[in-house]
Amino acid sequence: MCMSEHELAPATAAIHTKRPVLGARPISSPIFQTTTFALPSAAELSRAAVEVSSPGFYTRHGNPNHAELGDAVATLEGAERGLVFASGMATLTTAVFALVRSGDHVVAQRSMYGGSLSLIQTLLTRLGVNYTLVDQSDLSAWANACTSATRLMLIESPSNPRLEITDIAGVASIARERGIVTLADNTFATPVNQRPIDLGVDLVWHSATKYLAGHSDASAGVIVGPGTLIETIWNISLTVGAVLGPFDAWLVTRGIRSLHLRLERHNATGAAVAEYLRRRAEVSVVHYPGLVTHPSHDIAARQMSGFGGVLSFELRGGFAAAASVIEGLELFQLSASLGSVESLAVHPASMWGAVLTNEEIVAAGLQPGLVRLSCGLEDPSDLIDDLDRSLNLLAR
Ligand SMILES: Cc1ncc(COP(=O)(O)O)c(C=O)c1O
Repeated sequence: MCMSEHELAPATAAIHTKRPVLGARPISSPIFQTTTFALPSAAELSRAAVEVSSPGFYTRHGNPNHAELGDAVATLEGAERGLVFASGMATLTTAVFALVRSGDHVVAQRSMYGGSLSLIQTLLTRLGVNYTLVDQSDLSAWANACTSATRLMLIESPSNPRLEITDIAGVASIARERGIVTLADNTFATPVNQRPIDLGVDLVWHSATKYLAGHSDASAGVIVGPGTLIETIWNISLTVGAVLGPFDAWLVTRGIRSLHLRLERHNATGAAVAEYLRRRAEVSVVHYPGLVTHPSHDIAARQMSGFGGVLSFELRGGFAAAASVIEGLELFQLSASLGSVESLAVHPASMWGAVLTNEEIVAAGLQPGLVRLSCGLEDPSDLIDDLDRSLNLLAR
């Protein structure tokens, strides 16, 4: 600003206040709560306008807080580049829009997060993209589902809500032989417990709303992979426009600073709670890949270094028993999310009862007696006591 402030009318001065310029570097990154950036010349503005994820042009294109988060997750996942979005679903939708077009074919596993399935079954069909859903544990099913039109394979391991395991290296090699892009949802595992890119996957995405943010206070998504694919997705992201707020990007980046420590505790508590539940007579099965009784434990042990804090289990008493158990819990709160510092529990059959019939609930793999737990960072003995109290109520 060349004019001195006393020359400015109050309305102008209110806008052109002095911005802080610090000689020292702040330890915590500033939040760049701005939608746009001023550049010193027309030439630089024109360069920034076409730069992929430019952190200094317009926040729908990029922002320094986006760049910090995208780079952090890319580093953790062993990827070249990252891109962030307003939610996990915004990430998947934008990526899929960028990678397939009408007439293409997608192969995905049958057991995955309901929102991801709904994108495939509803939106892609409308856009003229065909799909085949396969049993994720059957590598020959993945291979047999491929056609000359297959462009994309969608993996989620462990899957929501039954913690089923996909042989990630096996699927990635089937895809690679055929020139098909693989996209893996690594939300449940996090890069602390599993790195799909090391196993041959092209792109990894997260609902950063969960473990990456870790505190139930930010909705966000992130995708990482090779620069060329990220650039393709970025181009479409400009049209989809699912922009992550700079403050939410900052919150997720802050969450990531404690990810490794949090996951150590989540892993230990998840394993302890799974072991406890396995010994309860009211429980018919515990879905936790860390248990030797899990049907894909060997694959999980090969590709994961820890098994996380999310698990699910089925009650012999079905719907009524599951509803009673979650209502009897005091520390585990009834809530739809997972991966945060506080422990959460959900009974999918009652949560979806308002919109799905019993048959649809079972067809979606949501057994009436299934309960999903997300073990937080509380002392594990308190969480086990909470489950103990609630399960003991069933006997009455
Ligand atoms: C495994 C998994 N992927 C993706 C999502 C979608 O993420 P978001 O809620 O951030 O859109 C969820 C949400 O529960 C999830 O559990």
